[in-house]
Amino acid sequence: MQDASAQMAILQFMLSRLPTTAVPTSIHCDHLIEAYQSAESDVAQALVTNREIFDFLQSAAEKYGVEFWKPGSGIIHQIVLENYAAPGTLMLGTDSHTPNAGGLGMLAIGVGGADAVDAMANIPWELKAPKVLGVRLTGRLNGWASPKDIILNLAGKLTVRGGTGHIIEYFGPGTDTLSCTGMGTICNMGAEVGATTSVFPYNSGMARYLAATRRAHIAAAADQAAGFLRPDEPVIAAPEKHYDQVIELDLDRLEPHINGPFTPDFSRPLSTMKTLIKEQGWPEDVSVGLIGSCTNSSYEDMTRAASIARQAAAKGIHAKSQFLVTPGSEQVRATIARDGLTGDLETIGATVLANACGPCIGQWKRTDGDHATRGEERPDLGPNAIVSSFNRNFRARNDGNAQTMNFLASPEIVTAMALSGRLSFNPVTDTLLDADGKPFKLDPPCGQELPDATAGFDEGRTVYRPIVQDPTEANLAANDVPIKVDPKSQRLQILEPFPAWNGGELEDLRILVKVAGKCTTDHISAAGQWLKYKGHLENIAHNTLIGALNADTGKVNSALNTVTGELGTIPEVGMAYRAAGIPWLVIADHNYGEGSAREHAAMQPRYLGCQLILTKSFARIHETNLKKQGVLPLTFRDEQDYDRLTGDGTMTVSTQGVADLRPGCPVYLQVTQTRPDGSQERFQIETKHTMSEDQIEWFKHGSALNLIASLTN
Ligand code: F3S
Repeated sequence: MQDASAQMAILQFMLSRLPTTAVPTSIHCDHLIEAYQSAESDVAQALVTNREIFDFLQSAAEKYGVEFWKPGSGIIHQIVLENYAAPGTLMLGTDSHTPNAGGLGMLAIGVGGADAVDAMANIPWELKAPKVLGVRLTGRLNGWASPKDIILNLAGKLTVRGGTGHIIEYFGPGTDTLSCTGMGTICNMGAEVGATTSVFPYNSGMARYLAATRRAHIAAAADQAAGFLRPDEPVIAAPEKHYDQVIELDLDRLEPHINGPFTPDFSRPLSTMKTLIKEQGWPEDVSVGLIGSCTNSSYEDMTRAASIARQAAAKGIHAKSQFLVTPGSEQVRATIARDGLTGDLETIGATVLANACGPCIGQWKRTDGDHATRGEERPDLGPNAIVSSFNRNFRARNDGNAQTMNFLASPEIVTAMALSGRLSFNPVTDTLLDADGKPFKLDPPCGQELPDATAGFDEGRTVYRPIVQDPTEANLAANDVPIKVDPKSQRLQILEPFPAWNGGELEDLRILVKVAGKCTTDHISAAGQWLKYKGHLENIAHNTLIGALNADTGKVNSALNTVTGELGTIPEVGMAYRAAGIPWLVIADHNYGEGSAREHAAMQPRYLGCQLILTKSFARIHETNLKKQGVLPLTFRDEQDYDRLTGDGTMTVSTQGVADLRPGCPVYLQVTQTRPDGSQERFQIETKHTMSEDQIEWFKHGSALNLIASLTN
C-alpha cells in the first residue's frame, strides 16, 4: 500500500481486531513528498507536513507486522520489484501501477483500499474473471527505441479503454530480448489502457535481475518451475486459438514514440511530431523535462539517459529546459551516484529530487516560472509543454495547471529534448549545436541493464531499509504497540464499528436524494482537495454526493431536509439526519458507483446513516463495497418505478423482506406518500438484491469487518 491509500485501509483493518495481517504486507511512503528544492530538504519538509500520517502508518505497521518503508526510501513499485516481486505469484497493491511487477512474471493487480483490507483480513477477494489479450513481440529494439516505446505504441492501438477487463500477456521471441526493468515499464503502463494487469513469461532477464537484487534463490526456484511460468507450446503455435485477442508488434521496426498531451493514448512516432506541432499549434519550447517515476527509473534507464548527457557534456552544452530526475528507490539513487551517472546528469544541469512520486502525482512546486505555487493559474507560462518519462498525463496532473501540455516519452528522448529545449526535436534526424556553435548529432543511447556484477547494487542509506517485524502472533501480542492517532487530528480518525442490523425491517427511511443520470464514485466521494481527509471519515463525509444531480430540484448537490423543510447541500442534510438518528436511502439511475474501487464512496453514506441504496443498476465493485460496509444495495424489479419515487420530502420508505433476507428473494418497499392535505397514499415497489449467504452475514453484523471481528474474539 502507498501512503495515501494505506490510511483508510489500515483504519478499516483495525476494525477486524486481527493481531496481524493474513498475508505479508508493506507500506510505502512515496505520495506525500512534494518536489520543490532538493531531495534532502523536500523529505525533511514532508516529515513536518505529514508527520501525523507517517507516525500513524509506522505505528500500525509495527503493531500488525507490516514492513514500513519510510519517506525517502522510494516509490512503491520500484521497491516491490527490487524486494518482493517473484515469478508466478499473486499480489494486490493499492495503486493502479501495481502491475509494474509483471516485469518479474508476477500477477500484480492494482486495487482499492477495500480490496487490500479483504486480503489483509482474509476475506475472499473477488475479481470478475478477466479475458486475456496476447501481445506477440518479435525482433529486437534498436537505435533510440526502448521498452517505453512498446507501451506508448500499444496505448495508441488499444486506447485508454482497450485493455479493460483483460490481462495483457506478452509472449514471443521478442520478450527474451528485454531487461526485467524494461518489462516492468511496459507492464506498469498497462494501467493506461485499462488492463487488469500485464505479465511477461519468466525469462533470463528476470533471472539476472533476481540475482542482482540478492534473490538468486528465487531465480533457482523459478527455473525449476519455468514450464508453469511460460505459455505452453500449443499457445505459441496458435495464439489466436488461446487468447481472446492477439496483437503483433515487431520490435525491429519500432520507432521512438511520444504520447500526449492530456491522454496517454494520443500516440505517434516521434518522427511525425514536427508536423503535428504546427497543425495543433502546440508550444515549440519544452519548459521542463522530467525523468524517473515508478515507470522509468531503473538503473538501465539512468544509464541510457546518462549516455546522452555525457555526449552533450563532451560538446560543452547544458540542458536548455529545466531538467528534473526522480530516482525510483534509494537503491537506484545510491547506485547511480556511486557509478557516476548522477554526476553525468548534473553536469548538463539536472536536479535530482527525492526518491518519491513528486511531480508525477502533482506534488510539485514548480519553480521555472514566476508563479511557483502549485495549483495556481500560471499566466506567466500560459500554454506550455513539459516532457516526462512518467506514465500518466491527464490535464493538470503534474503541476495543477490546466494549460500545461504534458507529453510522455522514454528517459533518453526526454533527456535529448531537454538538451535541445524543443518539442519538435528528433535526435534520430536532428542536430544540436555544440559550445562553439557547430552542429552535431547525438549517438543512440547506450545502456547497461544492471550494475557490474562485482559492485552490484548499492542498497544506500540504512535509514531507508524497512522496519521489519517478526509477524508471529505471539511476538505481536507481546509487543502491543499503541497506534498513534491524535484525537484532535483533522486528517486521521479512528473508525467506530458500524452498528449491527437490529434484526427487523428497515423502517421510515427518508429519501436523502433521488439522483438523475451518471453518478460515479467521484460524484459520491470527490477527490482533489478532499484527498487530505482520506484518513478522517467524518471530515471527508462533508463531500458525500456533492457531484450528484438531484432529479427533483435539477440542481447538483442539493437535498431537502424533511425535518426543517429547507433545502441544503446533500452532506449538510446527511449530517443533520445522522445527528437526529434518522435513517435514509438514496435512489439512483443506472450504473451507480461506476469509476473506481474507492471505498470511501460506500463508507461515507453509511457513516451518515444510509441504510439502503436503490438503483436501476450498480457498478459491480461499488455494489460489493456497499455490501461490505453494511449498506443494502437494491435494484428495481421494474425500472419504471424509478419515476414513481421522489425526494421532495413527501415520501418515506420501509422494507418488507429484510427481516428474512435470503439469496434470490425479493425485498419489497412500502412507500408512504403524504399529500398536502395530510392524507396518505401507500404503494409497494418490488426490488431485487444480489446478496449471497456470506454477504447477508456481513449485513447482519453491520459490516464485513464486524463479522471478522466477531469471529476473532
Ligand atoms: Fe507514484 Fe506516479 Fe508511480 S504517483 S506510484 S510515480 S504513477
